[in-house]
Amino acid sequence: MGTYSIAVLPGDGIGPEVIEQAVRVLNVIAQAYGHTFHFQHGLVGLAAIEAEGKAISEETLATCQKSDAILFGAVGSAQHGATVKPEEALFRLRKGLQFFANLRPVRPLDAMLDASSIKADILRGTDLIVVRELTGGLYYGHLEPNVPGKPSEIRETERGYEAIDTLLYSEEEIERILRVAFDTARERRKKVTSVDKANVLSSSVLWRRIAERVAKDYPDVTFENLLVDACAMHLIRQPASFDVIVTENLFGDILTDEASMLAGSMGMLPSASLGTRRTAHGLFGLYEPIHGSAPDIAGQNKANPIAAILTAAMLLRHSLGLKEEAAAIEAAVEQCIEAGYRTVDLREEGKEILGTREMGQRIAERVAALAGNK
Ligand code: NAD
Ligand code: IPM
Ligand code: MN
Repeated sequence: MGTYSIAVLPGDGIGPEVIEQAVRVLNVIAQAYGHTFHFQHGLVGLAAIEAEGKAISEETLATCQKSDAILFGAVGSAQHGATVKPEEALFRLRKGLQFFANLRPVRPLDAMLDASSIKADILRGTDLIVVRELTGGLYYGHLEPNVPGKPSEIRETERGYEAIDTLLYSEEEIERILRVAFDTARERRKKVTSVDKANVLSSSVLWRRIAERVAKDYPDVTFENLLVDACAMHLIRQPASFDVIVTENLFGDILTDEASMLAGSMGMLPSASLGTRRTAHGLFGLYEPIHGSAPDIAGQNKANPIAAILTAAMLLRHSLGLKEEAAAIEAAVEQCIEAGYRTVDLREEGKEILGTREMGQRIAERVAALAGNK
């Protein structure tokens, strides 16, 4: 029985809808296991820009700093190009709190193999995790405009506009994410695939050099390099051949949207973003489903809350050290899928389609039953 502080940042679009269900499930866990969760709610994204003028305020950042873990929904609106972007909230949290390792597990559930657009025979046995570098690369030029040699801007020239982004990685940044990948592999099936574009990019040539050096420290782990374009193809051709995939920020972003379809939908994939700071119970972390604010279905009780609920399970495991509780949530999700419950994104012949709230409720009921049967 413990007391924990969780910062809750629901955000925009479907963010608040799915986070409400994740918090509902966490409340069931608290009750069943006798824990106390103090939820500190804060605004992020468009909601924060409208109310506070910034995608995330200093007060909200301070609340996050003081918490044991941060549960984040999604940010973003349908319009792009606004002066203050809702997505800035993510960058402030990720970079500001040094969450450089983004873990994105992909494990299609057996009962749902037919929900994917990939054939069940190809999917069977797939259980991989993408370790995405999260605080470097192309994403960060615009946040550090004064760093020499690291521009990111649109500028006017005599020939019209031109735009520049810089992909910069230091040796230290590359080495620490590779070590996370190898350490993760040691807890799993002991295989690391490092994904780069070393046939073209200097940053990838350095990445590969360091990957090969780090691999020597892990002789018990099978290691391979793969070019990112080939990886995109192999993910569909033989997904079960992967264990740990480690890659830079943008490649990891794109490959995990692709990989989400192995699990049936974007609405199924959770993530944890970790650094090196420890809490009393584990690693301090930022937890978010990989999907966005889905403006096309927002406010209609249609969003799949499973990614957010599995994200809450990752939070319990990595930041609060509550492994049994995390496993109970994962088992409850699996039971609901086995029972034939689906949200609209997982439409399958003969299955019962539930709304966001109803799916959250069924999962919460099963968590309560599993915890009661301990
Ligand atoms: P998206 O992930 O919001 O949606 C892509 C598609 O997947 C849509 O058709 C959507 O309906 C569907 N989808 C996503 N999550 C779902 C769920 N839980 N259940 C059912 N269907 C789901 O991506 P997008 O449309 O390209 O981006 C919308 C906005 O979200 C953009 O502003 C983008 O920047 C932002 N975004 C934010 C995050 C985040 O906050 N972590 C992540 C990705 C995108
Ligand atoms: C994600 C999202 C974000 C990213 C966007 C919203 C900035 O796509 O978390 O996958 O690209 O990191
Ligand atoms: Mn993404």
